[in-house]
Amino acid sequence: MKTIIEPFRIKSVEPIRFTTKEERIHIIQKAYYNPFLIHADDVLIDLLTDSGTSAMSSAQWAGIMMGDESYAGSKSFYHFEEAIQKITGMPYVIPTHQGRASEKILFTILGGKGKFFLSNTFFDTTRANIEFAGSTGIDLLNEEGKHPSFIAPFKGNIDLQALEKCIGEKGAENIMMCMITVTNNSGGGQPVSMDNIRKASEICRRNGILFYLDACRFAENCFFIKKREKGYEHKSTLEIAQEMFSYADGCTMSAKKDAFANIGGFLAMRDQKTIQECRNLLIITEGFPTYGGLAGRDLEAIAIGLEEVLHEDYLTYRIRSIEYMGNKLIEAGVPIIRPTGGHAVYLDAKDFLPHIPPYQYPGQSLCAALYIQGGIRGVEIGSVMFGKYEDNGHLISPPMELVRLAVPRRVYTQSHIDYVTEIIIDVYKKREQLKGMKITYEAPYLRHFTARFEMMA
Ligand code: F0G
Repeated sequence: MKTIIEPFRIKSVEPIRFTTKEERIHIIQKAYYNPFLIHADDVLIDLLTDSGTSAMSSAQWAGIMMGDESYAGSKSFYHFEEAIQKITGMPYVIPTHQGRASEKILFTILGGKGKFFLSNTFFDTTRANIEFAGSTGIDLLNEEGKHPSFIAPFKGNIDLQALEKCIGEKGAENIMMCMITVTNNSGGGQPVSMDNIRKASEICRRNGILFYLDACRFAENCFFIKKREKGYEHKSTLEIAQEMFSYADGCTMSAKKDAFANIGGFLAMRDQKTIQECRNLLIITEGFPTYGGLAGRDLEAIAIGLEEVLHEDYLTYRIRSIEYMGNKLIEAGVPIIRPTGGHAVYLDAKDFLPHIPPYQYPGQSLCAALYIQGGIRGVEIGSVMFGKYEDNGHLISPPMELVRLAVPRRVYTQSHIDYVTEIIIDVYKKREQLKGMKITYEAPYLRHFTARFEMMA
């Protein structure tokens, strides 16, 4: 097989800044060992997130100039609406400034005290918006998805038996919605199969429960279906997406992921009454229904991005480039979540640094080491992000201690990724020298963004 190449050439470049190891030791100390507090200018390869960090195409930049900035009835809105209707088959669409704004509107309208929302795994902003509306979110991830090194094609699947059981226990009348996240970001960017989506939607329909998709990375999920699920190998990714959305009553979307936009999102659905209520809320929070918190130029860029993201040469390159990085690490014995997902490689920090216990934050220590060794920025997804305290102050750790290296779309080349793997392998070779971390400051909520750390002696 020939090398799978980047299906684009570069027209505009953005220099990245090199620093020395001595400079980086000083920079990370000044940032209290928290990568969120480092100035982006001091980062060489930024794998903090794949959200809002994509490179737009020449067609999208041309679209930016074509954006219609009319307050009401902008031509760009109709282009945006049409692009979403074509993929989702959903008649009603409202633009929002990003994914969590769609969540806020949807759960304000459909949530409330005593209601339950079920998922394979809710993303943190989604769960936070459900809880903020007074409801409870429950994750029902399939058992396979809970084991980092277990190889299975669809580790993002919802556990269908657990779904039926939960409906039986809580009562269908108390469950508002089941929302499946494609791909499952918090669980390693793992895909969900069409069979699982179809069956989950049937269970919901039978019980009168709404079925939604968190569609942020829908195109990556569709490509995995094409490659891994029987019966889909000859379908186009657009046809697969159309089928996937056909099972859903609605969806939320962050256009900062699979629409290659730097900002934006939407909410789409089939129910006229609910969309009307959402629109009313949109007007007081985001803006008039034909722009919803976005400029006309953003709507245009999203409409074009949604069309581009389903191109199979792009998706082949995208999924291959993550797998390429993962394979190099696996060959060197570095523990990662397997198989690699759609948008990121997740290092298993527990296995990488077995001498650092969860209460000394192995993921945070690994993030600091990657920055010092090579100027790479990743994010801890473990006890710092999800840790809670017992009444006696003991830390309750989540099951996994991970470091996510999310790859921005169309931004880095193969040599950047080769460099990243070389740095990770360097750190792996001297992993015994890495030390644990202690928190010296933390905010009461979402502490990972602002926490300060000290390296253990
Ligand atoms: N749902 C999923 C699955 C996400 O990954 C995100 C964002 C959102 C919803 C919220 O979208 O950021 O536009 O408000 N994920 C980013 C990340 C932040 O780094 O994974 P948003």
